[in-house]
Amino acid sequence: MSLLRIVQFPHPVLRQRAGPVDGMNSELERLVADMVETMYHAPGVGIAANQVAVPVQIAVIDVSRPEEPQNPLVLLNPKIIELSKETEKAEEKCLSVPDFQSEVERALKIAVLARDLKGQEIKITAEGFMARVLQHEIDHLNGTLYIDRIGRLKRQRYVRQRKKALADLALE
Ligand code: NI
Repeated sequence: MSLLRIVQFPHPVLRQRAGPVDGMNSELERLVADMVETMYHAPGVGIAANQVAVPVQIAVIDVSRPEEPQNPLVLLNPKIIELSKETEKAEEKCLSVPDFQSEVERALKIAVLARDLKGQEIKITAEGFMARVLQHEIDHLNGTLYIDRIGRLKRQRYVRQRKKALADLALE
């Protein structure tokens, strides 16, 4: 296994709609194992394949606490089938959106259909933090970032700050 490089905003692959996975093969199994390792190393609670520059519909998630055993959930071709009308606001961050966090309003409850590594269909229902992480990662697979879901002025401020940070890096 190896750590993968996580691409950061404004890398264009983050804006790509990921293509569906037809079936597993050794290359995709390796990608999943590397994504899981990269997520724990970051550390983060989820990674979508776009974030490691592979636009396929794979997301890995683990919201267990540090003191709990690792419990990675691998989702292939996840689709949201239900979103509650009730919403909740909470802070989000993203490994691909450095030096920023913001409150995002999301559905409180969600139901998702996906396939697991064996190709079996699985249905996940979740609420609160897990529902939020699922929405955040599925957004990635559709080319959406959480900064698209915040106020325009706040987003523009971030985009300017990020451009300046990248320009400063280029000068060093
Ligand atoms: Ni993210």
